[in-house]
Amino acid sequence: NEDQFKKVISHAKEYGYVFQSSEIYDGLSAVYDYAQNGAELKKNIRDYWWKAMVQMHDNIVGIDAAIFMHPTTWKASGHVDAFNDPLIDNKDSKKRYRADVLVEDYCAKIENKIEKEVKKAAKRFGDAFNKEEFLNTNGRVLGYQEKINTILKRLGKSLEAEDLADVKLLIEELEIADPLTGSKNWTDVKQFNLMFGTKLGASAESAMDLYLRPETAQGIFVNFLNVQKTGRMKIPFGIAQTGKAFRNEIVARQFIFRMREFEQMEMQFFIKPGTQAKWYEHWKETRLKWHLSLGMGADNYRFHDHEKLAHYADAASDIEFKFPFGFKELEGIHSRTDFDLKAHEEFSGKKLQYFDYEDNASYTPYVLETSIGLDRMFLAVFSNSLCDETLEDGSTRTVLKLPSVLAPVKAAILPLVKKDGLPDIAKQIVEDLKWDFNVTYDEKDAVGRRYRRQDANGTPFCITVDHDTLENNTVTIRYRDTMEQKRVNIDELRDIIKKDVDV
Ligand code: GAP
Repeated sequence: NEDQFKKVISHAKEYGYVFQSSEIYDGLSAVYDYAQNGAELKKNIRDYWWKAMVQMHDNIVGIDAAIFMHPTTWKASGHVDAFNDPLIDNKDSKKRYRADVLVEDYCAKIENKIEKEVKKAAKRFGDAFNKEEFLNTNGRVLGYQEKINTILKRLGKSLEAEDLADVKLLIEELEIADPLTGSKNWTDVKQFNLMFGTKLGASAESAMDLYLRPETAQGIFVNFLNVQKTGRMKIPFGIAQTGKAFRNEIVARQFIFRMREFEQMEMQFFIKPGTQAKWYEHWKETRLKWHLSLGMGADNYRFHDHEKLAHYADAASDIEFKFPFGFKELEGIHSRTDFDLKAHEEFSGKKLQYFDYEDNASYTPYVLETSIGLDRMFLAVFSNSLCDETLEDGSTRTVLKLPSVLAPVKAAILPLVKKDGLPDIAKQIVEDLKWDFNVTYDEKDAVGRRYRRQDANGTPFCITVDHDTLENNTVTIRYRDTMEQKRVNIDELRDIIKKDVDV
C-alpha cells in the first residue's frame, strides 16, 4: 500500500541506499543515485545473478558490450519504428500522459469501487452474503464491470498506430479526467519514441546521430558470431551481460521501478529452430527457481503469460512480483525466434549463421531471452525486506531483513564500551574478517541503539566484544532476524558468517 511504499522510499534515503539524482538542484525526474549501501546491495544482486547464469552454466558466457552502437542496429531491431509509447496531452493543463496508463489507472479506480461495494454488502448481509450472486445482480457493480469490459476489449489488442484513434475515443467515452485538474479536454493520441538520441563527432556536418541503447540485448546479437567462434560454443549456448539501458519514459513514477537510466541483466540463449517451446519452459522454471532461492516468499511471485506479443516474440511471459503497489513485472522471458539475427543479417549484409556438425547444415539460431531489471530487483528485495516489528516487551523495531547473501554489510563489530582494550580487540576482528566480508566497526551509543541501527541497515550479524572476551576469547554473536544471541569463540566467526552468506 501507499504508506508502506513511502516508508520504503524514505528508509532507502535515510540509510544510504538510494538518493534522488542531483538532489541539490531539486533532482532530475526518474533518475536516481545509489548511495554507499545501495551500491553494495546492487553489486551483490548483480553478482548473484552472474554467478547463477554464467559461473554455474558451462554453456553460458558473459560479455560487456558498449552502450553506443552503430545506429543501423536500432533500425534492424525495430526500435526506430516500433519502440513507441502512445501519448495524450490535456489541452487545459498542458500535461502529458501515457494514454494506456491513463486508462489503466481508471480501471484500477473502478476495481477499487467494486471492492468497496462488495465489502459494504458483505457487512450488511453477514452470513447470507453471496459474492458471486452480488456481482452478477447489483446494478451499480454491473455498470462498473461493463466499463471494464469495454476497456479490455479495446486495449486487448496492442496499441498500434491504427488503434490510437480508438483509444482517444475510449478516453472520451469513459469521460476520463486529467488526474491533476479534472479537465476532460484531450488532444489526439500520438506515438512517441522512447530512445534518447545523441551525436558522435565534432563538426555539425559530419556528426552521426546515435542512440543510447534502450536494451542490452542488441549488443549480444551483433556479437553472436564473434563469441560463438572465439569461444567455440556449441548450440545450445547462452551469452549474458549486465549494463545500463536508457528509455525516455513518459510516465516515470514509482521510484526506481521505472527509470530513465537503468540497468538490465539479460541472457540470450541460442537454440536450434523448433526447440523453442522446450527452452521457453526450461528458462521460465529456471528463472523462477533463482528468485525463490532468495527466500522472499513463493506467494510474492506469479507468471503473467502475454497474449499481446512484442514485434519480435512468439511467446512471452513475465515473472511478476508483489511490490508495495501490487503485482508488477520484474522479469521477462521471451521466445524471440530468429527475428533479431535475421534482421541483423538483412541490414548488415553479413551472414549470422551457425554450422551444426551433427546435422551437417547451417541455420540461423532461434533465441530465448531472460531479461530482468537490476533496479527493479533491488526494489523487490528492499521493499520485501523492510518491516516493523512489535517485540515481546511491547517496544518496536524497524528491521531490513535482506537475504544475507545480498546484505551490503555482513557483520558489525561492536565493543561494549570504549575502554579497557575492548575497541582494540573489536578493530582486530574487523581487520581479520574484512578479507572475506564487508564488515563495519561501530562504537557510538549504547549497544542496544547500535543493534537497532544495524537492524535497520540490514546487517545480518552483530558481534559484541565485552569483558569476558578478555578472559576467554569469546564474543556475543547476535542474529538480526531472530535477535538470538550466542556466545562463540572469535576463531569460529568466519565460518559462522560464511555459512550464512555464501550461496
Ligand atoms: N531485451 C528485452 C527487454 O528489454 P523489456 O520487457 O522491455 O524487455 C526487460 O525489459 C526488463 O527491464 C523489465 O522486466 C524490467 O525489469 C526492466 N525495465 C524495463 N524498463 C525499465 C525502466 N524504465 N526502469 C527500470 N527497469 C526497467
